[in-house]
Amino acid sequence: MLQPFFQWMGGLPFSQFFLESVWPTPIIQCIHLIAVSVFAGALLIVDLRLLGRGLTSSSIPKLAAAAQPWLVWSFVVLFLSGMPQMMSTALKEYYSPFFWWKMEMVALGLIVTFVVRKVIASKEEGHFGPVWPKVVGITSISLWTSVTIGARLIGLLS
Ligand code: HEM
Repeated sequence: MLQPFFQWMGGLPFSQFFLESVWPTPIIQCIHLIAVSVFAGALLIVDLRLLGRGLTSSSIPKLAAAAQPWLVWSFVVLFLSGMPQMMSTALKEYYSPFFWWKMEMVALGLIVTFVVRKVIASKEEGHFGPVWPKVVGITSISLWTSVTIGARLIGLLS
């Protein structure tokens, strides 16, 4: 259903320029990977805290509030640096099961991190009992890990 859209995207002058020039792709890939590491740091600092590890001397709401801008802005950079890569290799991405896997995990990850985890991390330790924060922390780590594995498999196997 989306095939004509991906075909149109890949044929745009911007996509062709991006694909055929030497520097844009590696530069944008580097930016994408730097954003991955900032995003992972901002994510893990809170997820580990929900699991009772890491910076246990800080309260969960305080840590989550401090990490939030890093999380939001690194995701904005991931999106902006992911788009030109996707546009320039549009049909390869369309036919890659790993690309769709990655996008589904990103959608789920966004809901878990920015909706469910936000609620859990807004209250002091103990408010939701001992189990829910751990379930949310592990779910968040698992979802974003599967995003990165899916992303790497696009390059390796598609
Ligand atoms: C929604 C926004 C995103 C878009 C549109 C996007 C798009 C892409 C594209 C098109 C590639 C290149 C795949 C290829 O053909 O080899 C890529 C690579 C990658 N992306 Fe994303 N991405 C996004 C978000 C993310 C997020 C949230 C993460 C991780 C937290 C991530 C991690 C990676 C990694 C690890 C690679 C592999 C780089 C490599 O193999 O050198 N991306 N992304």
